[in-house]
Amino acid sequence: MRGKVWKDTVAVVAVIVLVALSGCGVSSSVAPEDNNETDDLYIYGENGDLIVVGFSQIGSESVWRTANTESVESTFTKENGYFLLTDNARQRQENQIKAIRSYISQRVDYIVFSPMTEDGWNTVLEEAKEAGIEVILMDRRANVDESLYTTWVGSDMKREGEKAAEWLEKDLRAKDILYDTVNIVILQGTPGSSSELGRTAGFEAIASKYKNWHILDRETGDFTTAKGKEVMRKMLRQYPQIDVVVSQNDDMTFGAIEAIEEAGLTTGVNGDITIISFDAVRGALELVEEGRINVDIECNPNQGTYVEEVIQKLERGEQVEKAYVVEEKVFTKENVSAYIEDRNY
Ligand code: AHR
Repeated sequence: MRGKVWKDTVAVVAVIVLVALSGCGVSSSVAPEDNNETDDLYIYGENGDLIVVGFSQIGSESVWRTANTESVESTFTKENGYFLLTDNARQRQENQIKAIRSYISQRVDYIVFSPMTEDGWNTVLEEAKEAGIEVILMDRRANVDESLYTTWVGSDMKREGEKAAEWLEKDLRAKDILYDTVNIVILQGTPGSSSELGRTAGFEAIASKYKNWHILDRETGDFTTAKGKEVMRKMLRQYPQIDVVVSQNDDMTFGAIEAIEEAGLTTGVNGDITIISFDAVRGALELVEEGRINVDIECNPNQGTYVEEVIQKLERGEQVEKAYVVEEKVFTKENVSAYIEDRNY
């Protein structure tokens, strides 16, 4: 039965609104994309046939993240048959847990969320399971028993890291310097997130085969431009010779390039420092085309439609897979031009 909490009586709606306002419900310090307004709750009550989805997003740290939110919001619309509740956790796991608990108490039909880090989800997902609510993980993974979620839709982060190292192998081989000394630094994403763990593991598994590839340092830049720049500046002061920067997202790459150029060095195809980036947002693809980023490993944020397909299958009573991996490409100066125009994020 759709929207059962809201359909029953206005009194129940009023109680829930009070819970939300008292801070026990979805965060009342409303982010631009949060939607827990009273009017919408009444509309939801009047449209009991809508599928109710509670969505907890990590934050708005990157261009990628904004595109990911947009892909969910443009998919789960009333026109498409959904009532979407959203919450922006502002990079705090406790906010995500609070939002998920609120969705459980509102008896939504599905909870969709991108786990900020892999650990720490057992208790709240047990609660969702007990309430009989389907949980769909999106983008990042959670380190929990598979029985605690219905499915996961996202990127193979480890494979992304491997692709980065495979590209570097190929590039060094083409220059005939595969066995020369290569000094590498890694700008990592949010510590303990699937994207950080996977990309680091994938890259380092291949790097460890080469005794001459030296990973001088790895430090988090929190997936943001400002922190990426700060960390890159520090590394440039600390290490006199950096040959390769592996930056685990484009936002940190923008900051790193600024820091490198401010230090009087150049980046990219004919530059002093090779830049390997992840995400492939439009601004970064333009830098690939200019030759200032050597390679960008795509991470596809358009996951809303994939999640919706899964929900439709579940609605029809069909079996779903435990994992769905989205398609992704690798962009270099040679192939990037054909893709830039269509990139809308
Ligand atoms: O989990 C996906 C990562 O999170 C993206 O690479 C990054 O830009 C985002 O913030």
